[in-house]
Amino acid sequence: MKLENAVIAVTGGASGLGAAAAELCRAKGAKVAVLDMNKEKGEAFAQSLGDNVIFLETWTMTKGYEGLSEKFGKLSGVVSCAGGQTMGTGLTVDKKGHLTHFMRLKKTVELNIIGTFLVASQSAALIAQNEPEDADGERGCIVNVASVAAEDGQNGQIAYGAGKGGIKAMTLPMARDLGKRGIRVNCILPGVFDTPMTAPLKQFRPEVYKNLAQSPIFPNTRLGAPEEFAQMAVAILENKYVNGESIRVDGGIRMGKL
Ligand SMILES: NC(=O)c1ccc[n+]([C@@H]2O[C@H](COP(=O)([O-])OP(=O)(O)OC[C@H]3O[C@@H](n4cnc5c(N)ncnc54)[C@H](O)[C@@H]3O)[C@@H](O)[C@H]2O)c1
Repeated sequence: MKLENAVIAVTGGASGLGAAAAELCRAKGAKVAVLDMNKEKGEAFAQSLGDNVIFLETWTMTKGYEGLSEKFGKLSGVVSCAGGQTMGTGLTVDKKGHLTHFMRLKKTVELNIIGTFLVASQSAALIAQNEPEDADGERGCIVNVASVAAEDGQNGQIAYGAGKGGIKAMTLPMARDLGKRGIRVNCILPGVFDTPMTAPLKQFRPEVYKNLAQSPIFPNTRLGAPEEFAQMAVAILENKYVNGESIRVDGGIRMGKL
């Protein structure tokens, strides 16, 4: 799709990877809706991007979309960054060998799988109303965001790996389902990026942070920059022949056994 005058929603858009994607889409001429549960940060960020950027508050991914239609009248694409993990949801049994309580695991799986599904479903319902953009009949594009943990989850990442694995696994059937409506669906699997999500490691576990920075094949002196994620999100939005695919953006990292 052409990003000039397209309308792109970015969930989790107030911070990190989502904020970088929102900024690059705006720089390419798209109108941008930043959806996030962090109202203060989201509003300030949206304002900092200037004209044709709005902030919409959402916690559950079931709200916020009404405001989007009202403001911009259509949706062309979404970058679905809202996700993450609850601490302590990664082990099959606890350190004493006792049963792990499943509730926190459920929360992480719900945030990632159900949240991403709800974003995709609401986005698709809006995008399907667009007039086709060209002779091929393209109406828009959905970019899901998983993690390399979908493929090589670390020790302690059961819930996160399951949630992100679910997002990756949903991507192809979604693309098959929505192709007839002219909507492409792809997924990005980020490696380890320098965002507020990984900032506590830098502060409290500098040795782990250093090890992660050295783990990619190349570049192996730093974490990924959010702009490098944004470049892939934009490439997927713009390139009509990319569909049903999950793409790692990770400097070639393969997570080892911890
Ligand atoms: N940073 C990394 O190294 C990395 C690696 C792989 C995957 N990811 C994934 O990329 C995505 C973005 O990560 P990030 O590093 O930019 O994180 P981040 O913490 O910087 O930003 C996440 C944003 O999502 C918002 N959010 C979280 N849950 C939400 C909800 N239920 N409703 C609305 N907004 C919500 C937060 O308020 C925050 O602004 C996440 O899905 C994360 O799992 C990140």
